[in-house]
Amino acid sequence: MMKAIKLRDDVYWVGGIDWNIRNFHGYLTQRGTTYNAYLIIDDTITLLDTVKHYLKDEMFERISDVVDPSKIDLIISNHVEMDHSGCLPAVMEIAGNPPVITSPNGEKGLKLHYKNEWDFRVVKSGDRINIGRRNLDFLLTPMVHWPDNMVAYCGEEKILFSNDAFGQHMATSERFDFEYHYDMVIEEAKKYYANIVLPYSSQVKKALDGVSGLDIEIIAPSHGIMWKERRKEILEKYREWSSNETENKALIVYDTMWDSTEKIAFAIYRGFQNRGVQTKLINLKNSHISDIMTDMLTAKYICIGSPTLNMNLLPTVAGFLSYFRGLAPKNRIGLAFGSYGWSPKNIEYIEEVLGSCKFEILESIKFQYIPDKAFLTEVTEKIEKIV
Ligand code: FEO
Repeated sequence: MMKAIKLRDDVYWVGGIDWNIRNFHGYLTQRGTTYNAYLIIDDTITLLDTVKHYLKDEMFERISDVVDPSKIDLIISNHVEMDHSGCLPAVMEIAGNPPVITSPNGEKGLKLHYKNEWDFRVVKSGDRINIGRRNLDFLLTPMVHWPDNMVAYCGEEKILFSNDAFGQHMATSERFDFEYHYDMVIEEAKKYYANIVLPYSSQVKKALDGVSGLDIEIIAPSHGIMWKERRKEILEKYREWSSNETENKALIVYDTMWDSTEKIAFAIYRGFQNRGVQTKLINLKNSHISDIMTDMLTAKYICIGSPTLNMNLLPTVAGFLSYFRGLAPKNRIGLAFGSYGWSPKNIEYIEEVLGSCKFEILESIKFQYIPDKAFLTEVTEKIEKIV
């Protein structure tokens, strides 16, 4: 039988581990993920969130390790997205439709998802419910990651059930930060922020302000491992990432048709290197867009290159730009580059996306057909002057 994992006396992790998932709506989850549900055994037996539908049996096994699932008295639904609400119908059925605590947008979203008039009890920021020896306080955190998100705080246990915030996509049998390789956890938290949370950085700041006065010993997110020993560090990291602070780092992201755009990419690379800027050259043929976003999170210079293809971009670059625009990083310096045959449409398309992010845009670098040595030297010198 799958076991419940104890966080505190009578507080358990009862989630599911998704060892095999490698694509989470376009995000390469190379280490899998978990969906974290939590169970509090008190006068009111309370389940916080559920798991993705296909891990239902695992979740019920873990709950049954502690209590008969039919005895669940109350459900807290911190988030409608189906990786957390997917087993809500099953829990409702087995537990005889207990009340569901959710946000105003949570109620709307759950009704639209499950077409069911359950006993919703809507809460807003500052509301508290008593479940016996413990209380749960709620803070609405809209757009971290959907309009319905909220977090729950148990002051008696000093646990923040933070839902999507502070998560990481990692399938591990370990549940706490001190049990695992910290560098790997922080890298996955960074990737998660860059690919999921980044567009909502201003809402993240509000959420951080909202929890700043709480005495927290455990941050229990809805994905990955829980933060205990390193909880202050992940809070600091979220402050840093949500401020769009960058390092003196350059990313050169490109694809190439007949190697001309690649030659320009290397010339740009040499310019940054000569100035001692940490630089990464990324050919989109060999890299996943979600990994590029992790590098992008702290990069100051974003250089994007493509040749023109049929009055457009190479599909790899177009796909990356579409993903990039949606995640809307801010406060960077952008550069468009590439070769072309008869129309420099490539530059126009790339600059349009850089402009939509309101980047400072450097003068583009383009060349008709095959760049010669003199031009490439000029490119390197130009970058050296900019940096
Ligand atoms: Fe993990 Fe927004 O769901």
